[in-house]
Amino acid sequence: MEFAKKRVALVDDDITSLALGKGIMADQYDVVTIPSGEKLFQFLGRVRPDLILLDVDMPVMNGYETLKKLNAQPEYQDIPVIFLTSMSDTANEIEGLNLGAVDYISKPFSPPLLLKRLELHLKVVSQQRELINYNNNLQEMVKARTKTILDMQNSVLKIVANLVESRDEITGGHVERTRRYLSILLDGLVKMGLYTNEIEGWNQEFFLQSSQLHDVGKISIPDKILLKPDRLTPEEFNEMKNHTLFGVRIIEAIQKETPESSFLSHAKILAGYHHEKWDGTGYPYGLKGLDIPLGGRLMAIADVYDALISARPYKKPFTHEEAAQIIIGGRGVQFDPDLTDVFIAVAHLFDQAAGKVRKGVFS
Ligand SMILES: [Fe+2]
Ligand SMILES: [Fe+2]
Repeated sequence: MEFAKKRVALVDDDITSLALGKGIMADQYDVVTIPSGEKLFQFLGRVRPDLILLDVDMPVMNGYETLKKLNAQPEYQDIPVIFLTSMSDTANEIEGLNLGAVDYISKPFSPPLLLKRLELHLKVVSQQRELINYNNNLQEMVKARTKTILDMQNSVLKIVANLVESRDEITGGHVERTRRYLSILLDGLVKMGLYTNEIEGWNQEFFLQSSQLHDVGKISIPDKILLKPDRLTPEEFNEMKNHTLFGVRIIEAIQKETPESSFLSHAKILAGYHHEKWDGTGYPYGLKGLDIPLGGRLMAIADVYDALISARPYKKPFTHEEAAQIIIGGRGVQFDPDLTDVFIAVAHLFDQAAGKVRKGVFS
């Protein structure tokens, strides 16, 4: 099978030069002769050459202007352009190369030199294309593999989170709802340009997925406390507080196997710090203000909002407005003031997300 010839556009106002050039190249290339820069653009609207030979010295639109116009149009930027010149002026050549021409060929043509240069430049272009294709394929493969791993990780995680939750029917849907709220808060945070340095290195997808483990430590809380339908006594509550530390311990055990996982570092922070309070009265560490990692400060808002709007055997659910007011009242006391402001900006989305989970839109 014979391969299609590469197409070369030869642009020159000098008819003799067009005829000569065509004569030299016609055996090996599909040569299209074009008498001006303006006509080149009409031609490009219909067919795409693999390379353009462009005369510098032309009336109306000279070679430099033609190249500038080509460069301004993204669809033509990767067509290599070689300037043809009868001026042997190096300053002009530099100008042309700076504009993006790949080479200069001087007229009158030396047939073997012209053919050799064309061959070389077309080879470079096809190698570049191959490299780009290869890179794209590689990226697709990496993406597909990463997605498989992430899907697996996420489904294992969902199972663990559901296991924890299935022991504790009272708070059903809490894990899914808090993940949604966290995602809303994070979007708001990014839009408002807050804590940009802190979240710069985050894989936000991992961060959100890892939130499903924030209460994983509840697996170590005895049934008589976890499933108690009444309010907890102070002693029981103290024991319940340990779910944060148990969670950290469980995640640390997994981290021993995969110490590099940023997913697990997020999970550890969310599990360990989601009950800390801005004023230092939270647990388990009693950290204050910015000493509480950002993930913990974010999770605190998501977690408390959900506890407020949820029914418990000993309390009725608060409405969205009441819950939002309570969070706002905790600005700078229980919650990071900046994050409370983000909450204020996106609170209506919390209400929607809660509704969707309640109606089982998210499985
Ligand atoms: Fe918790
Ligand atoms: Fe929670």
